[in-house]
Amino acid sequence: MPRLLAAFALILPLLAVPTTFPAAGGMPAGSDGPALSLGPGADLRRSAAELAALPEARDITLPSDHVHGPGPWQFRAVPLSMLARAAGVEPNGMLAVIASDGFVAQIPGNLALQSEPDRSRAWLAIEPPERPWPNIPGKAHSAGPFYVIWERPELSRISTEYWVYQVVALRAEQRPEQRWPQLLPDAALPADAPERRGMALFLANCLPCHRMSGAGEAELGPDLNRPMNPTRYFQRAALLRYIRDPASVRSWPEQRMTGFPPETLPDTAIEDIVRYLEHMAGR
Ligand code: HEC
Repeated sequence: MPRLLAAFALILPLLAVPTTFPAAGGMPAGSDGPALSLGPGADLRRSAAELAALPEARDITLPSDHVHGPGPWQFRAVPLSMLARAAGVEPNGMLAVIASDGFVAQIPGNLALQSEPDRSRAWLAIEPPERPWPNIPGKAHSAGPFYVIWERPELSRISTEYWVYQVVALRAEQRPEQRWPQLLPDAALPADAPERRGMALFLANCLPCHRMSGAGEAELGPDLNRPMNPTRYFQRAALLRYIRDPASVRSWPEQRMTGFPPETLPDTAIEDIVRYLEHMAGR
């Protein structure tokens, strides 16, 4: 794999940029390359050049990254915690990370706001407009203009779905189960029920692409309860296998779901997700 990212040490054109963030009044989109929208109403806009020139911007080197594989890779990046705060994210709320293809990751606020160097820490990597990143393996585009990357993801078992590429907006949200109570399993279930663990895993790993009974805002994959829940038409063993590795069940060129390796979702986690899906089929 070409190690092009590792090579760039770019000098950004010196633009008149605000040095504090957030500052009032965004730049008009398009005047300065791609822009990121921030805040509950996407009311703040910051261009790639503005973000890269912030005093908080750093060159971050990762030993490997979820999208490009083993590195090392170097990125110009700003702390996601700073942007999450600017967007109004609360520790017990969520940061919605919206990608241009309809993918929407919901990152728990406490993770998005984590800024200590000895913990899992997220950054928003900025593709230099004049030196674009290489294409994502197997795709016809790069991870830019903005890409959420993680230092030490193993410390907080960061979901692979929290490495969001082609980011266009960051927004503060309530927790998904508060926004969409129809995601919740039966309130009578015990606190340690597998269906409850399954819901938490579903929210982190599946809701970015799928809706559930209409809940969610992803537009990539089908709703997993309406009109029919897949536990009603998949054999159980085939469904468990599909979540692990969809292409081992059926495969076609435009297939979008790549599945989950055991490091991200062990068998017990996939079992819990299927228990949640089975439970939701009856609700
Ligand atoms: C990156 C986006 C993405 C993620 C994350 C994702 N899926 Fe999918 N999924 C899709 C898409 C898109 C399809 C439609 C088939 C395709 O293009 O792969 C699909 C299809 C499916 C299907 C088959 C539905 C049918 O009727 O054919 C099931 C079941 C499923 N996903 C379950 C899950 C579960 C459970 C998770 C979480 C553990 C998950 N998916 C995570 C994008 C995703």
